[in-house]
Amino acid sequence: MKDILVLYYSRNGAVEQMARYVARGVEHVVGVAARVRTVPRVSSVCEATEPQVPASGAPYVQLSDLEECAGLALGSPTRFGNMAAPLKYFLDSTSSFWLKGTLAGKPAAVFTSTATMHGGQEATLLSMMVPLLHHGMLIVGLPYTAPELNSTSSGGTPYGASHVGGTTNDRPISTEEKSLCSAAGIMIGHDDALTPRNHGRRVLAHYASVATLLALIALGLTWELWWAPLRPGGSMLAFKVLPLTLPLPGILRGRIYTYQWASMLILAYFTEGVVRAYSERGLSAQLALFEVLLTLIFFVSSIFYVRASTRKN
Ligand SMILES: Cc1cc2nc3c(=O)[nH]c(=O)nc-3n(C[C@H](O)[C@H](O)[C@H](O)COP(=O)(O)O)c2cc1C
Repeated sequence: MKDILVLYYSRNGAVEQMARYVARGVEHVVGVAARVRTVPRVSSVCEATEPQVPASGAPYVQLSDLEECAGLALGSPTRFGNMAAPLKYFLDSTSSFWLKGTLAGKPAAVFTSTATMHGGQEATLLSMMVPLLHHGMLIVGLPYTAPELNSTSSGGTPYGASHVGGTTNDRPISTEEKSLCSAAGIMIGHDDALTPRNHGRRVLAHYASVATLLALIALGLTWELWWAPLRPGGSMLAFKVLPLTLPLPGILRGRIYTYQWASMLILAYFTEGVVRAYSERGLSAQLALFEVLLTLIFFVSSIFYVRASTRKN
């Protein structure tokens, strides 16, 4: 198991939330764990000290965290188009690693949050990369094969994940921003999930899962209400499609966790299909066989989707 350090500073919580989504993405990659850490505030009054342990949120980072981890995701609120001082202060304490080349060759991604749409996200992200480049880290951005990069109307840049918090910092992190945080985590976990070849497989598996899930719902309804109901005029068994509607939103949005539990849920419908294909006659038996086929396609495409989204090189 290798660790990726998700290191952030957050004054009002936006970057802290982003860090959680980045960490979630990291943990989607098989064999990789996220180590989430923060840095204490700095004060212009030199005597002021922070407690050893923060009152809430992630523990404070130690230099050893940076040394032990296989990669770094660094998050900061934008401060006049640059990273916040507490993070810079921490980075300024890493010169021994620079001398030894401790971080050279390790992957690194950056993420930020601003108040306003054009408040300097790219400038912040680019300037956050500079010290990491001095350390010889390999900077990982976000490729346009992540579909949310095209569809977002708030944060999300090819330089790294971002969020527009609003002038009162109360805008929730949008679905696209969350997905891009997660994609950044997956990328830093050294995954090939977003390379064009793997992206093609992922998209195919996604559409196959959506199509088969919708087909199973349609089959369940038409079978039990019109084509071959257990009782003439329609049977209550039509309600069996209700559990299939539960994973539908998550499957449509491409949520890996939903794919994982839906692939287990579908086994109940596979079993029903097998039992009814053997025990019933005529059209009902044929529909049961069709149900078996659809559940198998859904199962296989879900596994492919999860694998393509989380595979490690
Ligand atoms: C000193 C200071 C400078 C800031 N500079 C910018 C800026 O240049 N552009 C911007 O859009 N927001 C700026 N902000 C707003 C924060 O970047 C924004 O509220 C961010 O979402 C806060 O993240 P947090 O909730 O993790 O602390 C600034 C805030 C402070 C306190």
